[in-house]
Amino acid sequence: MDTLEIRHLVGTTWEGDPALERINPARPDDVVTISAVGDAKTVDRALDAADAAWQEWRATPAPVRGEILLRAADLLERRSDEVAVDLTREEGKTLSEATGEVRRAIAVLRFFGGEGWRIGGSTYPSSVGDGLIYTRREPVGIVAAITPWNFPIAIPAWKIAPALVAGNAVVLKPAQITAGSAWHLVSSLLEAGIPPGVLSLVNGPGSVVGNALVGDPRVAAVTFTGSVAVGKAIFGRLAARRARTQLEMGGKNALVVLDDADPATAARIAAIGGFGLTGQACTATSRVICTPKVKPAFLEAFVEETGRYQPGDGLNAGVLMGPVVSQDQASSNRSYVEAARAVGSTPITRGDIESGLFQPPVIVTDVGVDDRIAQEEVFGPVVAVIEAADLDEALAFTDATSYGLAAGIVTNDLRAAQRFANEVQAGVVKVNEATSGVALNVPFGGVKDSSTNTFREQGSGAIDFFTWSKSVYLTPPSWS
Ligand code: UN1
Repeated sequence: MDTLEIRHLVGTTWEGDPALERINPARPDDVVTISAVGDAKTVDRALDAADAAWQEWRATPAPVRGEILLRAADLLERRSDEVAVDLTREEGKTLSEATGEVRRAIAVLRFFGGEGWRIGGSTYPSSVGDGLIYTRREPVGIVAAITPWNFPIAIPAWKIAPALVAGNAVVLKPAQITAGSAWHLVSSLLEAGIPPGVLSLVNGPGSVVGNALVGDPRVAAVTFTGSVAVGKAIFGRLAARRARTQLEMGGKNALVVLDDADPATAARIAAIGGFGLTGQACTATSRVICTPKVKPAFLEAFVEETGRYQPGDGLNAGVLMGPVVSQDQASSNRSYVEAARAVGSTPITRGDIESGLFQPPVIVTDVGVDDRIAQEEVFGPVVAVIEAADLDEALAFTDATSYGLAAGIVTNDLRAAQRFANEVQAGVVKVNEATSGVALNVPFGGVKDSSTNTFREQGSGAIDFFTWSKSVYLTPPSWS
């Protein structure tokens, strides 16, 4: 298979010498990409280009800006099969997951392309004569988008698309190991007619490229998805200069299974959330909280599910779970299983967790709510099953972490489901659905350490982050 050469996009120029190799986590002999590694100077040039371009972009009518996104969606759709294969090769998720993600990126471009017709404000009655008061949405200016490897095309799409349609210039810094997916997206936008400088792509490490973007006063807003530690550091630095920050960080998402639930259905939902995407989603199910009667049957069905999720090459048909993304992630996953063992748990798995990147799913039982495995985000196919006496205790356990991103409940009891939805401290609540998987037309984000909990991503609410509101008082000249 071909190796993609990924350069930076600055203005209209693809630049930089490809230097860093990304090897397919499922096939050690497949070099997927060789990407250029940028530095502070690359960032500086990208910001110069953005600075020169954004005033004209801002003055371009929003429906015209939207048309470019719609065209990019068509272009991406035309090569979506190839893009999905490259995504599987570089990230590891299954081809069906990758295909779904590419489709989602296309839909996101279409959704925000259409928003070009709808971005608007409100009108208010004036206390003077024929006066009119209305609000306008102004773009914030230059936006930096710093994106992770786990949704390498969908997350860049849902950050870039609303920013662009709202009239901002964007510099994208994708995760280095998934530079190819970001490049496919940026190429489609460039081919669709994004003016030079309005969108730049700078590859490289967060400690250099991300750091330069966050520190530059020309950047008016940063939208970031990644770890809590990096997110908090970005927040501190941007707050100091009153720049906007939108953070999506981790989760320790719980799925509550109540006694009335069908154990097999609950196990299927838990497996999709916990082992789908190799557990590598911030919305992944990493705890299942069961009430006592359902627990034995649930556990039996859940262990059964692990058989279906044995890891394999995501390009092969029938594989439901791809490899772990990297050796670092694999050893981190193992350390969580060890931590569970250290507190007396006997982890349940059908395979060998020492087997490199092809780690099998692991179910951890007999751990306490406060143990490390039940508190920290693993980001791998490792799920802790914990017992709670009743809905009250299940709610308390669900909230007993520093995170508040997604939470789910499996039950036929509408009253219980509604109480859970009303009371749980999580930005996304799923009833009889996996905790992972969110709709692109709906606001997305969490509370506590999961998000900035100010601006949401996705849906038309995403436009809020990328614009500020101006109130205009308009009075006819004849008034005196
Ligand atoms: C989803 O579950 O479909 O990085 C979205 C992540 C989240 C997005 C999850 N920001 O996993």
